[in-house]
Amino acid sequence: MGHDPGMRPVVVAANWKMHTTPDDAGELARTIARRTGEPSVVRVICAPFVCLAAVRDALVDTDPPVAVGAQNIHHEMQGAFTGEISALMLTGLATWVIVGHSERRRDAGETDRLVGRKLGRAVEAGLRPILCVGELLEDRDAGRAEAVVESQVRGALAGLDPGALEAAGLVVAYEPVWAIGTGRTARGADAAAMAEAIRASAASAGWPHAAGGLPILYGGSVTASNIAEFLAEPAVDGALVGGASLKPDEMAGIVARAALTAQARADPARTS
Ligand code: 13P
Repeated sequence: MGHDPGMRPVVVAANWKMHTTPDDAGELARTIARRTGEPSVVRVICAPFVCLAAVRDALVDTDPPVAVGAQNIHHEMQGAFTGEISALMLTGLATWVIVGHSERRRDAGETDRLVGRKLGRAVEAGLRPILCVGELLEDRDAGRAEAVVESQVRGALAGLDPGALEAAGLVVAYEPVWAIGTGRTARGADAAAMAEAIRASAASAGWPHAAGGLPILYGGSVTASNIAEFLAEPAVDGALVGGASLKPDEMAGIVARAALTAQARADPARTS
């Protein structure tokens, strides 16, 4: 069990992927911020590198605040790595970063070991990491979804200081690969079971706090119409939203539903 979800934040993170330009990102960020102004929900917009300054500037006076995140970082802090961006370079631009997204595992060949090094750089640079894990359809069909995800978690966390990860506010996103961009989603109960498996493997990797305190998001074709199924699960703490995060109406619906969960956690006498 996830023990007491009341101690975990409810997070809605937008992953804009390779969409938006420096010319239009600021306005989209401002519109989303205006349409989702729920103080109880932690909101993050993960924009392309070249749009980070525009998004930061657009959100600077937003109240309640919306955090800015990047979608990737290099596994070294600096050096001869043409075209790469390090955690250090994000200082002043972003406070969160996604590592290990399945599209990067697929297209850039990122391994658990490499993802773990990126996680380490994020922590060193004071960025709040969102570690993405998730199984392929063939893994789920073969009954090894939990084993795959547990091994991704253990592989990424290996050698990292659990205290530093906890201090950095590590968040894990469970994103089954077969649900990303497909319109197909996991069932809420399956996402909850995977969230508990992720907490258990983080705890067994030397981070006992993770058993109750590690926030876990669901990602994969989340929309305003299906978010309730995931947030009805006490083990799930929010969503990492791809396609729908570019649509203010969708984000408004998702964050409004997330606010119900956040308020219920803060005041258990209310229902979510
Ligand atoms: P979609 O919401 O477009 O399926 O993408 C999910 C995702 O990959 C978020 O990181």
